[in-house]
Amino acid sequence: MEGRVALSDLNHLEVHPSVSALERDVERILITEQEIQDMLRHLGDRISEDYEGRDLLLVGVLKGAFVMMADLSRYIRLPVDMDFMAVASYGASTKTSGVVRILKDLDHDIEGRDVLLVEDIIDSGLTLNYLLKNLRGRRPATLEVCTLLKKTGIQRVDIDVRYCGFEIPPEFVIGYGLDFAEKFRNLPYIATLRPEAYRDA
Ligand code: IMP
Ligand code: MG
Repeated sequence: MEGRVALSDLNHLEVHPSVSALERDVERILITEQEIQDMLRHLGDRISEDYEGRDLLLVGVLKGAFVMMADLSRYIRLPVDMDFMAVASYGASTKTSGVVRILKDLDHDIEGRDVLLVEDIIDSGLTLNYLLKNLRGRRPATLEVCTLLKKTGIQRVDIDVRYCGFEIPPEFVIGYGLDFAEKFRNLPYIATLRPEAYRDA
């Protein structure tokens, strides 16, 4: 083994040029990969207990929630169905418009089902508020929300969130499904973006 270095000992930023290009615009890591996984395991345990014997349908809100959905669902020790909705709230801008468009609707009929809506982040809450109203109209047996992140103190609507991973300050964040101008979704952690990156976009 002499003269050999385990890959895990190396700073991956120096080893892997493609990773370096991705992480160049990261300012600060707010929540590490390990912290996210620990939290999702905890939420998965709670969900597994709460929905035992029920008819659980996980509904992921695209695109942001696809990463979380993949990890969270594997911490749920129950048979679950999965479906996705795609909505557009805002494009490259970092401010919410309050205008929500459904780009892709559910494949499942949710009447009588136990629906758990999986979101990446609640910012103003307008997107979620719209979705909850829309889904409630389809008469599910139950409808709850699981979000990885919630920004503190800036919700414009009052939303009852059964499962919440982390509360974060009202800053724009990237990673773990969250994008800026469609980039950074594949970072395994939650971070803030260097101010220069906004200007360059
Ligand atoms: P809301 O309607 O203001 O709650 O915004 C909800 C959606 O906006 C989220 O599902 C995200 O797609 C996006 N979003 C809100 N805050 C952020 C952020 O800090 N980074 C990246 N996307 C965000
Ligand atoms: Mg989203």
